[in-house]
Amino acid sequence: MSTRRRSVLKAAGSLTILAAAGGVWRCVDAGVFGAGSGPAFAPWDDWRAGMNDGPLALVRAAILAASPQNSQPWRFRVSPTRIELHADPLRSLGASDPFLREMHLALGCALENMLLAARAQGFAAEVELAAGRIDGSVPPAPVVVLSLRRAEPVYTPLATAIPLRHTNRGPYDMGRSLSPETLSAIDALVPDIDGVRLVLFTDTEQRAAFGAEVLGAAEAILGDAVMLAAQDVWFRGEWSAVQAERDGLIPDAAGIPGLETAILKFLPRAESGVRGDRWLRQLREVQVPATPAFGLIAVRDLYDRAQALRAGRAWQRLHLWAASRGLALQPVNAPLERVDRERQLGVEPVTSRRLAGFTGDPAWQPTFAFRAGYPLQPAAASPRRPVEWVLLGA
Ligand SMILES: Cc1cc2nc3c(=O)[nH]c(=O)nc-3n(C[C@H](O)[C@H](O)[C@H](O)COP(=O)(O)O)c2cc1C
Repeated sequence: MSTRRRSVLKAAGSLTILAAAGGVWRCVDAGVFGAGSGPAFAPWDDWRAGMNDGPLALVRAAILAASPQNSQPWRFRVSPTRIELHADPLRSLGASDPFLREMHLALGCALENMLLAARAQGFAAEVELAAGRIDGSVPPAPVVVLSLRRAEPVYTPLATAIPLRHTNRGPYDMGRSLSPETLSAIDALVPDIDGVRLVLFTDTEQRAAFGAEVLGAAEAILGDAVMLAAQDVWFRGEWSAVQAERDGLIPDAAGIPGLETAILKFLPRAESGVRGDRWLRQLREVQVPATPAFGLIAVRDLYDRAQALRAGRAWQRLHLWAASRGLALQPVNAPLERVDRERQLGVEPVTSRRLAGFTGDPAWQPTFAFRAGYPLQPAAASPRRPVEWVLLGA
């Protein structure tokens, strides 16, 4: 081989090694191998470590609750005998939640985790919910006040499930439906939560009709530039942003195949339209068809503050129960977000009229929709802001 040819081959070899090294470095930097690791995920472990923190342990549990777009719209003021739960005005979802209905659902989720943790920590809690209507403005006063006194600790499977619950956006096993016993156990989960009703549907026709509703609503959101922009605010494609912001929606929790997740993390700056199309594709090809049961949480008045908080409690409890039984759940709230958006725009409430048909009683209005089934793949943890970031001064 000529000297010239040898040196060309050597240079090509070095370039390949460099490119491969650069690729590996980029993969590490993009968190391709880092799912669930780093400070953004530490609160999932801190919950166990901080079990004996008194009232602060309740906040450690609260921050692991579900919230729309993982916005974590909560703040807490803590004293030895009292916890105030406040809405965070900086964490509203704009056109996705113009009346803050979903924000109040999230606060209700946090409340349910606090009440379960309170019992496990040996506190009896008296709950005071703020009254009134939700209208899009964040109340300056706390939305919930817990008064605590010492009691015997009571550990429940639901409290144990707090750090195990994750939203599962993957396919569910269509060969395994929810048994009548499981369905009636779900029905029996929330009778003590006043003014909240659960509706489940498993028959093919109703599932198809509700699936079409979800897809139609997602298409309407994609066609609404203002809603799409509001959603985009919470997308965290960059691994550095995940670790810095510790909120929002991340590729690892999207329920998509591993290789697609890796590509998404490797090349995080996709156009918002491309992201929207991927979301719709996942709904159309995976989430809607691979769902043996859909469900609704309904209330009598969508915009009553206390009812929204109670509906949030119901969702969190249901999801914890599911986590303790190996069931997977995912909210599918595009239709409900369209109900709010139609009301905000002052147009015909077509979505709300159609949804009324799914509760079987027009006096009950759906405020939350979800899919349920047995998972075919595990769900990943989403980031959380630490307790120190969400405490208000005394
Ligand atoms: C009011 C509310 C609405 C939600 N809507 C959706 C939804 O439409 N689609 C979805 O995939 N997840 C939805 N979620 C789930 C959140 O995105 C999820 O709770 C958040 O990303 C944190 O992840 P985790 O539940 O796994 O801890 C919703 C949650 C709440 C509380």
